[in-house]
Amino acid sequence: MSNSHAQYERPGDPCIFVIYGSSGDLTKRKLLPALYNLLLHNLLSDNFAIICVARRDLTQEQVRAQFDQDIHQFATQKVDEVIWAKLKDRLYYCKGEFDNRQTYETLNGMLTEVGQKHHTQGNVLFYLSTPPEYFDHIIKNMGLVGLTQQNDHGTPWKRVIIEKPFGYDLESAKALNASVRQVLHEDQIYRIDHYLGKETVQNMMVFRFGNGIFEPVWNRRFIDHVQITTAETVGVETRGAFYEKAGVLRDVIQNHMFMLLALTAMDPPSSLRADAVRNEKMKVLESIRPMTPEEVIQNTVRGQYDAGVAGGKNYPAYRGEKNVSPTSNTETFAALKLYVDNWRWAGVPFYLRSGKCLAERKTEIVVQFRRAPLAFFGGQEGNASLASDLGPNRLIMSIQPDEGISIEMLAKTPGAFIRTQSVNLEFNYKDFGTNPPSTGYETLIHDCMVGDPTLFHRTDMVEAAWAVATPILDVWKSLPARDFPNYPAGSWGPAAADRLIEQDGRKWVNDHKLKQQAC
Ligand code: BG6
Repeated sequence: MSNSHAQYERPGDPCIFVIYGSSGDLTKRKLLPALYNLLLHNLLSDNFAIICVARRDLTQEQVRAQFDQDIHQFATQKVDEVIWAKLKDRLYYCKGEFDNRQTYETLNGMLTEVGQKHHTQGNVLFYLSTPPEYFDHIIKNMGLVGLTQQNDHGTPWKRVIIEKPFGYDLESAKALNASVRQVLHEDQIYRIDHYLGKETVQNMMVFRFGNGIFEPVWNRRFIDHVQITTAETVGVETRGAFYEKAGVLRDVIQNHMFMLLALTAMDPPSSLRADAVRNEKMKVLESIRPMTPEEVIQNTVRGQYDAGVAGGKNYPAYRGEKNVSPTSNTETFAALKLYVDNWRWAGVPFYLRSGKCLAERKTEIVVQFRRAPLAFFGGQEGNASLASDLGPNRLIMSIQPDEGISIEMLAKTPGAFIRTQSVNLEFNYKDFGTNPPSTGYETLIHDCMVGDPTLFHRTDMVEAAWAVATPILDVWKSLPARDFPNYPAGSWGPAAADRLIEQDGRKWVNDHKLKQQAC
C-alpha cells in the first residue's frame, strides 16, 4: 500500500497480531478498526489471529464482548456483522503483567496453540501499545523466552511495532535502542509514526519525485523559506499525566514534524527500496543544525495555553487541567527556526510550529518561493519596481483536515487595464472521489505484515531527531519559562511566535484553505 512495489500489493502474510496493552485507547480507537478495514478490503490473510495481552483480569469472552461494543463505536464505517464476526472469532486474550516472565511463557504457549488452529505459519507481529516505560521490559522478556527468534532468512518472521515516544531525549533513546538491539535485528523493528501513514504525507514523495517540474526549483536558489504547521484545537484532554512529562516538542515536533521536514527537504532516493528512502531522510535529519544555548533563546519560542475557547469548546488553563501541576513548566506550543546545512538548503530557514488549543486544526507545509526580481505589474505607471509589493508564489501542501496541494500565483484580472490578483492552482484530494474512511493505521499495519519498513523510523533516524531536539529541551529545562501561560486557548499561540518569523520579514500563513470543489 505504501509504494508501487508490486510485491507489496497483496494481503498481509499469515500471522498472529499480538497487542501488548490492548485495554488502552489505541486498540479500540485505531488498531481494531484498522484491522477490520484491512479485512474488509481483503488485505488480511485468511490465516490470521489476534492475541491481546493486558493486565486486567478478564476472560476471553469478556474481551470479545468489550471489543464488540468498541468496534460499533469506533469503526470508521458501518460495521458489516459477517466480517466483524470473522475477526471477533479470531480474538484471544492473555492476562499478565508486563514485567513478569510468566506472562511471556503463557503467551508462548498460546502462540503455538492459536497458530496451529489458524495456520499462521509461525509469523508473529507484536504491537507495543503500552506506556513507554514498559517497552524495555517487554522486549527483554520476549528475548528471554525466545518469542522473537527467527532464522537468518527471517522465516517464520517475528516483527515488533513500537509506538512513540521512542525515548525521552538523546541519551534515553540511545539506551533504549541499545537494549532493543540486543534482542532484535534492525529489520525486525518497526518504530511507528502514524503521520507517515496519512495519505497526503505519502503523496509528498510522489508529488516531488513523480513530477519533473518541481525538482529544478526545489532549492535555496528559488525557495525563500519553508513553514510547517501542526495546529490542534484540542487540549490535553485526558492525557495530562502523560503530557506533563512530554510537552509538544517531544510529543509532536521531534517525530511527526521532523519527518514532514525530512520529506520536504530530502534528495530524490536512488530507488523506492526502504533503505534508499530512509537514507535520504536520514541525511536531512543529520544536516539540521543543532542549536547552541544562545541560538535556542533566539530561534525558539515556547508557550502554554491559558483558559479560552478552542474548536468551540471551553478550556481551562493548561495548569488547571486534570493531572497537571498548577505551576507546570510544560510547553503546549512551540515554534522553531531551523536550518538544514547542506548544499540544497543552506541559508533557507525552516519555521516549524505546533500547539494544542490553537485557533484551528490544520497540518500544512508552506514552501514560499523567492519573489520575481522586478515587478512591472506592481509599479507606478507601467514602470518596473522592486517586487516587494507583490504576493510571493507559495506551494502549499495541506495534510489535514484539508488534503491537497495548491500553488499561489499572480494573474491578470479580466478587463481593459492591467490589474493583478493572487490566484490558486489547486489539487484537492477529494477530486479522486471519496476514499473509504480510514484510521491512518491501515497502511502501516499492512506494511509491517508484508515486510515493508519504508515508512518506519530506523535507529539512526530516531537518534538524529533527538540530537536536534535535546539541546532545545536542555535549555528550556534549565531556564523555566517565566511568562506561562502566555496564549489564550483559541489563538495562534504566543505573540513571540509571530515575532520569531516577522523579525525576518516573513509571516505565518494562517488563513489558507482549499476550495471544497469536488464531489
Ligand atoms: C500524537 C500525539 O502522536 O499525535 C497527540 O501524541 C496528538 O498529542 C496527535 O494529538 C495528533 O495526531 P493527528 O493525527 O490527530 O494529527
